[in-house]
Amino acid sequence: MLKKHELVEKILLNTKIINTKIIELANEVNSYYKDNKEPIILIGILKGCLPFLSQFMLNLNIDCLVDFMYVESYLGQTKAVSKPKIKVDVINDVRGRDLLIVEDIIDSGNSLFKIRNHLQELGAKSIKIITLLDKKSKRVVDIEADWYGFEVPDHFLVGYGLDYDEKLRNLPYVGIADLSKIAILEKK
Ligand code: IMP
Ligand code: MG
Repeated sequence: MLKKHELVEKILLNTKIINTKIIELANEVNSYYKDNKEPIILIGILKGCLPFLSQFMLNLNIDCLVDFMYVESYLGQTKAVSKPKIKVDVINDVRGRDLLIVEDIIDSGNSLFKIRNHLQELGAKSIKIITLLDKKSKRVVDIEADWYGFEVPDHFLVGYGLDYDEKLRNLPYVGIADLSKIAILEKK
């Protein structure tokens, strides 16, 4: 039995369900890019992408490179900032390349909007988006994933890459955070 962390109210998606979904997603992406002449570049959005990206890329059978960007969209704990800042940029030359952005979750869409514009300005040939989780009801800008694993309700989620104040990314499941316990921590 999976032990629930004390700051988790409920486990929403367990490891098995997530892994099965990731294989399905990788199969779709494999067939989408199967005739590509050049390797695609996976752009993982740090740090939340890490568990999803690692599981996902192990199931890809197409040629790919891996690169990262780090975008700060949360200041401290659970509140998003509306103007995300790019803190770490890609290392590869993305001009004329097919890019696949790999995200943990899309919420307002502000971060991805910024990231996509930036990669467009760098001269990418194509930009697709894959996200493990999608809070569709929270979108404030016009951006959609090309592939998503699960549509999730508007709760503060943790685990499988998602953090509360940089912690809990290592939980092997996606859980709904217990906000009453977090409120107590934030008062301390
Ligand atoms: P957006 O810019 O509002 O779409 O937010 C995107 C980023 O905020 C994601 O890549 C996550 O890192 C973070 N985020 C959004 N929702 C949650 C959540 O429920 N828990 C933890 N992090 C989240
Ligand atoms: Mg993220």
